[in-house]
Amino acid sequence: MSEKGNEMPEKFSILDFAKKKQNNEKIIMLTATDYSFAVLLDKSGVDAVLVGDSLGMVSLGYDNTIPVTMDEMIHHAKAVRRGIKNAFLIGDMPFMSYEASDEDAVKNAGRFLKEAYCGAVKLEGGIEIISRVKAIKEAGIPVLGHIGLTPQRISNIGGYKVQGRLPKDAEKLENDAKALEDAGCFAIIIECVPSDVTAKIKKSLKIPLIGIGAGQDTDGQILVLHDLIGLYDRFTPKFVKKYATLGDEIIKAVLTFKEEVEKGLFPSEGNSF
Ligand code: KIV
Repeated sequence: MSEKGNEMPEKFSILDFAKKKQNNEKIIMLTATDYSFAVLLDKSGVDAVLVGDSLGMVSLGYDNTIPVTMDEMIHHAKAVRRGIKNAFLIGDMPFMSYEASDEDAVKNAGRFLKEAYCGAVKLEGGIEIISRVKAIKEAGIPVLGHIGLTPQRISNIGGYKVQGRLPKDAEKLENDAKALEDAGCFAIIIECVPSDVTAKIKKSLKIPLIGIGAGQDTDGQILVLHDLIGLYDRFTPKFVKKYATLGDEIIKAVLTFKEEVEKGLFPSEGNSF
């Protein structure tokens, strides 16, 4: 028996998504791109960590997520895996890793489990990817859906815009969510959608709906970690709240280091042998 207050948090499993929804507890998710961030998120007790293809922008410096490859995703997912003990780990299927065929989808989804020991994969899209979701699920791999603003389809939707404003678009989102649930997704991320549309979709689902820029009426929230801690300076969506400004802190630390080296203050005797 461990001492009271000293217990390890329980590992978060796929079953806990449904359990938390049932208990009316919010599911807390964030993205991570490497080992150090993964350790910090795990220590903070987040429920699930997504190795999102947004790493293409925040870690690799691409303009968008389109160029991200499976090999890049696996490389980062393996690093994140090494830092996580308790959170549930999800790998994000990058653009063109599942579009061409069910076989591609299953093979690439399997890589996240076999090579990076992820517990599930995420796919962007609605009714048009149902056959992929079913094929991956039938191969024994849990699937997280992602509807609304789907950055891999940025060329089709004409930019990073709020989705589902018109009644016909909101209805399509609801149909997409229902189809993903019926195909076996264990949860769905909904991105950049008006709050009332999210609320209506949540009511129509049995599985958890996780929001990002989709209002309060969800079963949980996810953000890109680099946005939340102020580490990505190129673009900050309106729905992001910056809880820290680590970019500024890092610049301050580096400038102090530079000044101390130039003045001969670092290394001091205490930092020397
Ligand atoms: O790639 C990503 O980080 C994502 C989240 C924004 C949901 O898809």
